[in-house]
Amino acid sequence: MRRLLFAANWKMQVDPAEARGYAAQFLGATAPVEGRTLWFFPPAVSIESAAGALRGRPDIRVGAQDVHWEPKGAFTGATSIPLARGAGAAGALVGHSERRHVFGESDEATGRKVRALLNAGLTAFLCVGEKLEEREAGKTEEVVLRQLRAGLAGVEAGALSGLVVAYEPVWAIGTGRNATAEDAARVHQTLRSELGRLGATTRVPILYGGSVNIGNALGLLAQPEIDGVLVGGASLDPDGWAEIVGIGG
Ligand code: 13P
Repeated sequence: MRRLLFAANWKMQVDPAEARGYAAQFLGATAPVEGRTLWFFPPAVSIESAAGALRGRPDIRVGAQDVHWEPKGAFTGATSIPLARGAGAAGALVGHSERRHVFGESDEATGRKVRALLNAGLTAFLCVGEKLEEREAGKTEEVVLRQLRAGLAGVEAGALSGLVVAYEPVWAIGTGRNATAEDAARVHQTLRSELGRLGATTRVPILYGGSVNIGNALGLLAQPEIDGVLVGGASLDPDGWAEIVGIGG
């Protein structure tokens, strides 16, 4: 059985008390499945309560939805890697499409965050994905490769073992429109080839995200190129998410 990752991105939802309630319900509904690792990305204020409540399940990790590249300083509103780690984070999402397109974060800032996370020994989940107009203009490959290369600029090949890549086409996020499993797998193949060119010697997990749900997860995971899923909306209900993480297991 190949390794699979199931990552839940709660975005700007689930407060600390709700995270504890969620964890209790989720833990009651699931048991570890061989070869599967589960990640939860709560909002920064809920990392500590989620990590505390989920402690004791060796298959579960908690991460931040974003981090700053500087370890400390005058960056009002930002979360540093040491702060996130202190709250219980073992990794972080970087370059999520909402950071890029709602908050205007650049490829270059994304790269700094990836480097800082890998240097600190945390797992970096580098998110890439094209917008609808880019897809329609036939630029999907160009966009995701640009984001991947910029996100990994200055990263030593040996550090790529701390990396996870998530392909999240922007037009599929929260829209109910997901890429077909075959389409997603083709983009994953492109990303995997580039990771090889960049010197990756271990298999970098590549996740798909964008309107993943109980109805399409199995088809996506059946693709050998898809190593897991990064899920927003369908991860917010603990019983529904329990069902997805146990799918086909
Ligand atoms: P949805 O699953 O709600 O489409 O969100 C995907 C996503 O952005 C996960 O990071």
